Amino acid sequence: MRTIPNRKVRLGVVGLGRAFSLMLPTFLADDRVRIAAACDPREVARQQFARDFNAPVYDDLAAMASSPDIDAIYIASPHQFHAAHASLAAENGKHLLVEKPMALSMAECDQMIEACVRGGVQMIVGHCHSFDSPYLQARQLIQSGRFGAVRMIHALNYTDFLYRPRRPEELQTEAGGGAVFSQAAHQIDIVRLLAGSPATRVRATLGRWDLARPTEGAYCAMLWFEGGAYASLSYSGYGRFDSDDWNGGFTEMGFPARDADYGKARRRLAAMGSAEEEARLKAAGTYGGSSWQSPVGNERPVANQHFGPVIVSCEHADIRPMPDGVWIYGNTQREHIPLRVPAVPRFEVIDELVDVVVHGRRPLHDGPWARSTLEVCLAMLTSARDESDVVLINQNVAASGPIGATPVDQTLCQ
Ligand SMILES: NC(=O)c1ccc[n+]([C@@H]2O[C@H](COP(=O)([O-])OP(=O)(O)OC[C@H]3O[C@@H](n4cnc5c(N)ncnc54)[C@H](O)[C@@H]3O)[C@@H](O)[C@H]2O)c1
Repeated sequence: MRTIPNRKVRLGVVGLGRAFSLMLPTFLADDRVRIAAACDPREVARQQFARDFNAPVYDDLAAMASSPDIDAIYIASPHQFHAAHASLAAENGKHLLVEKPMALSMAECDQMIEACVRGGVQMIVGHCHSFDSPYLQARQLIQSGRFGAVRMIHALNYTDFLYRPRRPEELQTEAGGGAVFSQAAHQIDIVRLLAGSPATRVRATLGRWDLARPTEGAYCAMLWFEGGAYASLSYSGYGRFDSDDWNGGFTEMGFPARDADYGKARRRLAAMGSAEEEARLKAAGTYGGSSWQSPVGNERPVANQHFGPVIVSCEHADIRPMPDGVWIYGNTQREHIPLRVPAVPRFEVIDELVDVVVHGRRPLHDGPWARSTLEVCLAMLTSARDESDVVLINQNVAASGPIGATPVDQTLCQ
């Protein structure tokens, strides 16, 4: 497999939208990576990038992918382009960091995995919240064997997901929109990592409660695992209630939740006249857009990122990953393992990228792992449609890689 000498990873970016904006503080603060080029059809985004990074910009991925000055490509274009963009990048010998969900079908996932094999490169799929330190720390505690087998997991999240400004296809499930492709990918990944054994079966139901936004905005799913553990995954993107209140009062990005933000997404959307106007609002708020704000000099997070309350019941303890640490509830005592606020948000993604590109290690969140997560997303849609359980047949994928091996004493305890 291709690796680079021990120097900064030179990263090209495809898609300078919201996902890139969310990763930007990481790229700016982590000196193990250098943003070396970008590709986007939006001219304002390319202009902003050229100003910010003094680096080449492209409106065509083929030209950027063939550049010898890039080691890896971050694919943050809309889901429907992930397969084609990943294949092109891999065939040009570039390692891949692909946004979740990996793609929209198992066949696309296969195409991406095969392209990586042909190109001799590795693929990491994320950012996904299963990279977040609290979940990784909880996983490590579970894997220590101290608390016995995992019996039951609950993952729950209430957000305003469906009322944030959207491109039209983000409101059509068949085009990759909706809560299952975009949000369940996070919860499934977290729950699979914590369960530590292959999922076997899923049963789901979807909530489509707003005809003006005709995709699913909510779901409940039950997931069973080999060995008898089971999990519930619940999500509402129609939330008026925000489950950040049940997770220490920290937002998904680790900031303090603020009363003034209550109802903000719905208020803003109510002023929109059409789908085009809404898509323009989304583009305006993203990188290079008229209302986009650079993260440089902004307020810093006060806790780790998260994806809603999660609790794991093991034979001998209940384990609760929180943005500020992990709670362990034993028979007669409880313990809190504090987690420091990371100096670089989402540094865990760069850990994995550097492990792959510089050290040639296999990533935890590799293509086969993410393909299994997509299988569960697709099975949830099928289960809800057919009102039946769906047996999972692509889950025998070991989550190995370096992250699971992070020793307790090297984590970010205060
Ligand atoms: N991990 C996270 O926290 C997170 C958050 C948001 C989005 N995402 C993921 O990131 C991906 C993009 O979503 P988004 O919300 O950033 O969308 P977005 O609409 O904000 O941005 C998409 C960007 O891709 C560009 N683009 C469109 N077609 C392109 C093409 N053919 N080639 C290159 N660039 C192209 C657009 O101009 C835009 O700048 C999705 O897969 C989504 O699931 C992840």
